[in-house]
Amino acid sequence: MTFKTVRTSPIEGQKPGTSGLRKKTSVFRTPGYLENFVQSVFDGTGGAAGKTFVVGGDGRFYNSEAIGVIIRMAAANGAVRLIVGQNGILSTPAVSNLIRKFKTDGGIILSASHNPGGEDGDFGVKFNAPNGGPAPEKITDEIFARTQQITEYKIAEEDACDFDEPGRFRLGKTQIDVVDPVADYEALMQELFDFDAIRTLFANGFRICFDAMHAVTGPYAKRILEGALGAPAGSVINAVPSPNFGGGHPDPNPVWASELVGVMNGPDAPDFGAASDGDGDRNMIMGKRTFVTPSDSLALLTAYAHLTPAYSGKLSGVARSMPTSQAVDRVAERLGIPCFETPTGWKFFGNLLDAGKATLCGEESAGTGSNHIREKDGLWAVLLWLNILARDGRDIVQLQQDHWRSFGRNYYSRHDYEEIPTDIANTLMTALRERSDTLPGSMVEDMKVVEADDFSYRDPIDQSLTVGQGVRVRFDGGSRVVFRLSGTGTQGATLRVYLERFVGCSGDHNMNVREALSPVIQAAEALAQIRRHTGRTKADVIT
Ligand code: G6P
Ligand code: ZN
Repeated sequence: MTFKTVRTSPIEGQKPGTSGLRKKTSVFRTPGYLENFVQSVFDGTGGAAGKTFVVGGDGRFYNSEAIGVIIRMAAANGAVRLIVGQNGILSTPAVSNLIRKFKTDGGIILSASHNPGGEDGDFGVKFNAPNGGPAPEKITDEIFARTQQITEYKIAEEDACDFDEPGRFRLGKTQIDVVDPVADYEALMQELFDFDAIRTLFANGFRICFDAMHAVTGPYAKRILEGALGAPAGSVINAVPSPNFGGGHPDPNPVWASELVGVMNGPDAPDFGAASDGDGDRNMIMGKRTFVTPSDSLALLTAYAHLTPAYSGKLSGVARSMPTSQAVDRVAERLGIPCFETPTGWKFFGNLLDAGKATLCGEESAGTGSNHIREKDGLWAVLLWLNILARDGRDIVQLQQDHWRSFGRNYYSRHDYEEIPTDIANTLMTALRERSDTLPGSMVEDMKVVEADDFSYRDPIDQSLTVGQGVRVRFDGGSRVVFRLSGTGTQGATLRVYLERFVGCSGDHNMNVREALSPVIQAAEALAQIRRHTGRTKADVIT
C-alpha cells in the first residue's frame, strides 16, 4: 500500500457535542472535512498505529463513503485491524458490544442518531473509547484541540476493500474483518434474557409491533424478534434501513413514530409497541392505547428487572440524567439502592457503570441501558420489557397502573423550541440563571419554589466537574421544571423545557397529561419568558 500525506488546515466548528460531531451531510462532504476530523480523532487519542478499531454506522446517506475514507486513513495511520459491519451497518449498541468483546482500542460510529438523514439531512461521527462508551470530555476536548492545530492527514492511495460480504481483507498491513452486524449482539442478548420465556409468550398469542423507522434496528429486530423469539412475521415494521429513513425523522417519539402510535391506538392494537431510532440506541415503549414515558419506563424496569436472568441479583444502583423525571428515585429508595443524577449525555454514565456503582441507567430522551455495554440500547430495552412481561403475567398497561398506585405518578412532558437564534437562546438562559438564586421561597404563579439552581455535576469517580447543565426549579410537592439548551442540534439553538408534576399514590393517575401539567407549564412561561424572548407562543415538538 502507498499512502499520501495531504496538507490541510484547521476547519472551524469541529467541536464534538453531546454525542460526537454532528453537522449537515453537505458540511461533512466538503473536501477535507471528514478527513480532518478523523485524523484529529487518531491524533487526539495517541495515534492509530498498532491499534484496532470497530467501524460502522446506521446506514444513512454517506455512510459507505465515509467508512471507505476511514478504512484508508486508518491503514495509512498504521492501524493493525478494523472490525467493520457488513455493508457498513452497525447499530450503536452493537459497536459498543464489539469494542468490549474484542477489547479494541475504541470505535468510530457514523450516525446523527435520530436526526434525519439524506443529502440535505444530518451526518455525524462519534468516537467511542475502549470501554465501549462515548468518549468522555477529556478525550473529546483533546480531539477538538487537534482539529484546531491540524496541518496534514494521512490516507491510502488505494481504494478501501469492499465490505458488502463478511470475510477477512487487507489494505496494506491493516487487516479488515467484515462481520455480520447482528450475530455478536444477538449472542449477548441471549446471555442476558430468558429467550424461552419470551418464546412461550409469543407462542401463547402475545403480539408486538416494533417500528424500526427505516433505520438500523430493522435487521436486528427481524432476526431476534421474528427469528429467534418467534414473533409473527410482520411484527417488525419499516424494517429495511434506508439512506434517508424513508424521508422521516428516525426519532422514536409520539410525533415521529406516528405509524406505530396509530397501530397502538387502533381497534386491533397489539399487546406491546416499541420503536427505535436511527442508530438503534433509543427506545419508545407503548401498551394498548398507552404511552409509557421513558422516565416511567426506567422506573418500572428498575422495579421489575429482578424477574430476568441478567438482573436477578440486587442492582448496584441506578442513574438518570438530571432532566429525567424523579420517578425512578422513589423506586431506588424503596429498593435501598443509590440513585445518581448526571448531566444529559450517555457519556456521564460511563464512569458509574465502569465502577460498578450503577446497573441500570436512563434518560428522558428515550434512552435506557445497563452495564451490559456502555451505550443506551433500544432493542435491549424492548427485550427486558418482554422478559418482564413474560414472567410477571400482567399486561404493561396494568403494570404501569399498579406501579403508580404503589409509588405515585410523575406526570411528565418535554416542550422543545427549535432553531432559536443562538444569541436569543443564550440571553434567555442567562436571565434564568441569574434569577435562579433569588427564586427559593418565592411564588411563581400559584406554585412555591423550594429549590433552584444551575445544575453542575461532580463525577464521583474521577471528580471531574461539569457546570452549566441546565436550570432546575423545584416546587413544593415534588413538581419541577428544567430548562436547558440541546447539545445535539445542527442549526441554531433548541430550548428544551422539561415539565414534571408529582401526584401521590392515592391521587388521580389518569388525567390528561397536558391538563395535569398546566400549572407547571404556566410557571415555566412565567419563569423563562419564552414568548417575550423568542416570540414563540408554542413549542415545536411536544413529547
Ligand atoms: C443523545 C445522547 C443522549 C442525550 C440526547 C439529547 O441521544 O446520546 O445522551 O440525552 O442526545 O441530548 P440534547 O442535548 O439534544 O438534549
Ligand atoms: Zn441514537
